Amino acid sequence: MNEQLTHEDAIMQDAIRYVKEAGTLIMELMKMPLHIQEKKNQADLVTEVDVQSEQLLRSRIHQDYPDHWILSEETDGGREDSHHTLKQPPAGYGWIIDPVDGTINFIHNIAHFAISVGIVKDGVPIGGVVYNPVTNELYSGQKQGGAFLNGRKLQVGLEQDISQALLATGFRALDWKPNSVVVEQIGRMTGKARSVRIMGAASLDLCLVASGRLTGFWHDGLYPWDVAAGMVILQEAGGVLTDAAGKTYALSDDSLVASNAIIHRELMSLLK
Ligand code: IPD
Ligand code: CA
Ligand code: CA
Repeated sequence: MNEQLTHEDAIMQDAIRYVKEAGTLIMELMKMPLHIQEKKNQADLVTEVDVQSEQLLRSRIHQDYPDHWILSEETDGGREDSHHTLKQPPAGYGWIIDPVDGTINFIHNIAHFAISVGIVKDGVPIGGVVYNPVTNELYSGQKQGGAFLNGRKLQVGLEQDISQALLATGFRALDWKPNSVVVEQIGRMTGKARSVRIMGAASLDLCLVASGRLTGFWHDGLYPWDVAAGMVILQEAGGVLTDAAGKTYALSDDSLVASNAIIHRELMSLLK
């Protein structure tokens, strides 16, 4: 094992430690009444749990890795350029954090939300951890090191065509309005795919494709913190992520199509 790999292994172990600590905090805070605030609209919410989970993660990283940069939803999400900062990411190591992905599920006490932490080096995602503290499912992936669910190696599903495919998608907050494109896209899958789910936590959707539970996932307008961790996990499990045009997905892209690779072309052509 070379020296660099050992360093990245250590970063991954720390990332797992931090998300577990954030998970314990979230489970404690869940027992108390929530203060819910709207951001862009009624589908874009934040609670003090999101903020506290993020503060904990940021302070652990600052303490242990003072020279690493951090991009996180509740600190950077209000910035006009936050979606596109990743077009020219800073050099060196960086952490991309969604302190609670699936906030609406969390608010409604649906046990399908996660802490998502992606690690980037010189602009390239190299590691990711996605943790659901209620189910205690921890997904992790490290570039060229495989993807795992609680230590069990992950592999995408083997569905051969769209008729066997269980797909998922979601609404970006601003698409939560009549006649949005995603509604039309779901219409196009009707009667062709096995079914379509809207699960409400993009990081977990990617992990579900990685574990073969879902076959594919598409979503417009996601942010780097929704995708950075799940992207590595899915790629390491044999999956593929592109934009809607078929270019390999980059964290600043506006469209995302993810799949088990086998159905990718068919999924993309149905979405066009
Ligand atoms: C949301 C979830 C959801 C997706 C939304 C995201 P949040 O993140 O990932 O699945 O459809 O577009 O904003 O706000 O719960 O962190
Ligand atoms: Ca999110
Ligand atoms: Ca969030």
